[in-house]
Amino acid sequence: MSKMEVKTSLLDNMIGVGDMVLIEPLSEDTFIENLRKRFEHNEIYTYIGSVVISMNPYKSLPIYTAEKVEEYRNRNFYELSPHIYALADEAYRSLRDQDKDQCILITGESGAGKTEASKFVMSYVAAVCGKGQEVNKVKEQLLQSNPVLEAFGNAKTVRNDNSSRFGKYMDIEFDFKGDPLGGVISNYLLEKSRVVKQPRGERNFHIFYQLLSGASDDTLKKLKLDRDFSKYNYLSLDSATVNGLDDAACFRTVRNAMQIVGFMEDEVQSVLELVAAVLKLGNLEFKPESRCNGFDESRIKDKNDLKEMCELLGIEQSVLERAFSFRTVEAKMEKVSTTLNVAQAYYARDALAKNLYSRLFSWLVNRINESIKAQTKSRKKVMGVLDIYGFEIFEDNSFEQFIINYCNEKLQQIFIELTLREEQEEYIREGIEWTNIEYFNNAIICDLIENNKNGILAMLDEECLRPGTVTDETFLDKLNTVCAEHQHFESRQSKNSKFLTDHSLPHNCFRIQHYAGKVLYRVEGFVDKNNDLLYRDLSQAMYKANHSLIKILFPEGNPAKVNLKRPLTAGFQFRASVGTLMKNLLTKNPNYIRCIKPNDKKAAHIFTDSLVCHQVRYLGLMENVRVRRAGYAFRQAYEPCLERYKMLCKQTWPHWKGPAREGVEVLLKNLQVPAEEFAYGRSKIFIRNPRTLFFLEEKRRQCLEDLATLIQKIYRGWKCRTHFLLLKKSQVVVAAWYRRFAQQKKYQNIRSSALVVQSYIRGWKARKLLRELKHKKRCEEAVTTISAYWHGTQVRREYRKFFRANAGKKIYDFTIQRIMQKYFMGLKKTMPSMSPVDKSWPARPYGFLDGMHQELRRIFHLWRCKKYRSQFTEEKKATYEEKLAASELFKDKKALYPSSVGQPFKGDYVEITKNPKYQKLNSLVEDKVLLADVVSKINRANGKGAPRIFLLTKKSLVLADQKTGQVKASVPLLDLSSVSVSTQSDGFFALKLKEGSTSAAKGDFLLSSDRLIEIITKLHRIGAASAERNQINIDISDEFLVQFKQDKVCVKFIPGTPKNGNGVACKRKNNRLLEVSVPSP
Ligand SMILES: Nc1ncnc2c1ncn2[C@@H]1O[C@H](COP(=O)(O)OP(=O)(O)O)[C@@H](O)[C@H]1O
Ligand SMILES: [Mg+2]
Repeated sequence: MSKMEVKTSLLDNMIGVGDMVLIEPLSEDTFIENLRKRFEHNEIYTYIGSVVISMNPYKSLPIYTAEKVEEYRNRNFYELSPHIYALADEAYRSLRDQDKDQCILITGESGAGKTEASKFVMSYVAAVCGKGQEVNKVKEQLLQSNPVLEAFGNAKTVRNDNSSRFGKYMDIEFDFKGDPLGGVISNYLLEKSRVVKQPRGERNFHIFYQLLSGASDDTLKKLKLDRDFSKYNYLSLDSATVNGLDDAACFRTVRNAMQIVGFMEDEVQSVLELVAAVLKLGNLEFKPESRCNGFDESRIKDKNDLKEMCELLGIEQSVLERAFSFRTVEAKMEKVSTTLNVAQAYYARDALAKNLYSRLFSWLVNRINESIKAQTKSRKKVMGVLDIYGFEIFEDNSFEQFIINYCNEKLQQIFIELTLREEQEEYIREGIEWTNIEYFNNAIICDLIENNKNGILAMLDEECLRPGTVTDETFLDKLNTVCAEHQHFESRQSKNSKFLTDHSLPHNCFRIQHYAGKVLYRVEGFVDKNNDLLYRDLSQAMYKANHSLIKILFPEGNPAKVNLKRPLTAGFQFRASVGTLMKNLLTKNPNYIRCIKPNDKKAAHIFTDSLVCHQVRYLGLMENVRVRRAGYAFRQAYEPCLERYKMLCKQTWPHWKGPAREGVEVLLKNLQVPAEEFAYGRSKIFIRNPRTLFFLEEKRRQCLEDLATLIQKIYRGWKCRTHFLLLKKSQVVVAAWYRRFAQQKKYQNIRSSALVVQSYIRGWKARKLLRELKHKKRCEEAVTTISAYWHGTQVRREYRKFFRANAGKKIYDFTIQRIMQKYFMGLKKTMPSMSPVDKSWPARPYGFLDGMHQELRRIFHLWRCKKYRSQFTEEKKATYEEKLAASELFKDKKALYPSSVGQPFKGDYVEITKNPKYQKLNSLVEDKVLLADVVSKINRANGKGAPRIFLLTKKSLVLADQKTGQVKASVPLLDLSSVSVSTQSDGFFALKLKEGSTSAAKGDFLLSSDRLIEIITKLHRIGAASAERNQINIDISDEFLVQFKQDKVCVKFIPGTPKNGNGVACKRKNNRLLEVSVPSP
């Protein structure tokens, strides 16, 4: 369910009544009974109209959670059960939305829960206002200023374990959006007497205990402190520890808070040094020392504490020591130094301690302000939170109580001023019928205290400034004379005889009837406290300190600025600051939280009727309710009212023409609001009950929802319509384009189809025409042919007898001639090449040309041979002749022959003429050398060959040593009978000599040469060419005899076996047989 739909009211599940205005019947008893009933159900908040009454529960309740914050956020004040958050929300929203500065006034007795309430308000505002890094930092600093100020300004009292001993007013500043910018804190009158003396059961300020319990050993050592409380005179011991309060943890919290607020490390250190110095100061003790002039002069008993303190603060010990023994009084031109007695020394010590501490506190406030002050100069909205000490009535009431109670009187004034008087006056102004409510206006008491001429504070100041002996008693005397007639002043000695016998009124006291009750003040100490005197010697000693913070705190100690005027009195200062505060508060819209304390025991669940009744009375709560009940809960000027609710009625919506008041009348009549629920003022409408207001608000909310729906409806309709129109327009455009495109395409289709059809038809027509034409032409041709044949036949028939005799031979001759011509022409084109070895010849075309064709081939061959031969030289011719002779000799007879065909017969293979080695050999030979080569001469004994140069000339052959060229044998060719060679591919040949010739004596030669064919051919040709010699026979056989000297040896050629290898091998088989194995080719 969304938040908007939750319809709750203050009236839902109410315990007692949530708003005292609704109580029936109204009496003090019912009032207190209602408070009690609610308190017992943990409903600690109750309203009187817009004022919140808060009962201190003395226990933590689960009503301050983040969920609660969300629940109360942006809700109407009367919508949910009473809560401090509702007030905070109301204040914050009217600050943010209506631009009204706010102040939240929290009043009540000490321990009633004011400080807690102020913290709840601040945390609520922090939770609901803007977020963001910068804003969060500001919030954090604002919130964290609390722990720091509480540590230094709060103490345990009999009424409250965490009682604020100073008044605090904090302005939180916001920008126009409601985001916090910063704040300003004002402090009022710290109860500084507590520093030197505490009543029974109470403590000094928290910071002293926190420092001693929480600081590290190291820090304590630096501060020259001891953890033991009992070592310090200023610390009361009977209640040094407080139940449920962990001083050590608090110290850490405070340190942390100081850091967040923005204190520098050295600043924190200085502050702690001052706190330590105050403790040390308390330990100084004095003893009397008689002087020759008979006066006693005070002396410091034990100087150790003094020394340590001086070290801490950087003060020269002797200066301070002297300040505790002497006092310099400056009057006009002269300085008079008087000694101090022991009592005066103690007075001076305590005055210094109090001043030191209270100035330190003020400095802290200023320092915090510096950190949290808004960074912008633009206009700020302000929410002030006032948490000031409540009304105090002790057994022994002194100057402080007087001041505090005065402050509370002033606040009551504001309350009266704004709620009661204002309210009544407004009714009168508006002409609303009004039964006057009697209420007590305490202005008269304020006047008694603050009147400039004869007020009590003025009297006190006068007395303090008066020359001559001034004591508290002379002050009381003065009061007795001046204020005697005042109806709220009571004193035994006053001229008013009424009190002469009043024994409840001691002699040294006066009594004031405050609005909250009678308080008896003891005059003792009034003058001193008002004077707040610190001997100038001490302030000068402090100013001389070598400690930055101390120097700042005692500016009057500066000798350059000696001011002989008396300093302002405490009373005067307080009166002035209260005056400023009041003025400030009056400019703001007030929100009240009235705190009530249910019992004196700080205990949960206890509700002491008498105590509550007393508070209800002096807070004037009953009057408050009465005024509320007699009056109207809500008022508003007609114009804004009409403006706000005009939508609730047809006549006023949307515009009302007449005056606003009439509009409102019509409106309310129309809504049937009962007549007793409202009244018409002059300029405002007054609504009696908040419920009526809620009713109007609820109606308005519904109506706004309806209106929103209507606006939404119209807007949606408009949006859809425009969208639709746009779509329609676009659709038309698209359609137009599409249609155009489609038509274009269709047209093109039709056009191309028409063309196709057309072309087919044309083609068909053309073909038809062509066919006809062709037919016509063929008919014509046929006619011509037929007529030609016909003519031919006619002619042939006619001329046949003339042709038959010669035509045959002539046609034959012509045909033959034609054929021959064609044959020769063809032959000319297909002639083979000129190479004699070319065997090709064109085929004959006709069988009858066969003989001539062969003959022509033969003639052509002979002719080209002749042509070929005619280009030969003589030399080449001889070579060819030699080759021819070789062919005749060996072709088909010896297997070696084919390998020689390709080799040209060079003749000289050893270059006999050129080689110088054979020069001699060459010269021995007479004829031209026809052949020179190296051959192997086969040894008959082993068949091995020895190389020999073989020379052949026309007449002889010569065998010579290959190396030396020495002739081994020379045989004339005439002596050669025949040559034997094998049929195989070996190079063996035997040269056989004629028997009986001279050469034969040495025997035949068996030689071997690769060029056997050339050698033998040349040898044979020499024989053939010469006439004198016989032809040399050439025997070709595989077995022949060779004559070696005496023996005939048979040389036999056999085919080689593979084991003999590829070479020719000659082996001697026996004496008569040489076997040559020749590898088969
Ligand atoms: N709303 C509350 N819820 C719980 N405890 C509270 C509440 N208000 C006050 N107290 C208790 O009462 C004590 C005194 O309250 P405090 O605000 O210091 O009083 P005052 O400032 O009026 O003297 C607090 O320390 C706290 O224990
Ligand atoms: Mg307080």
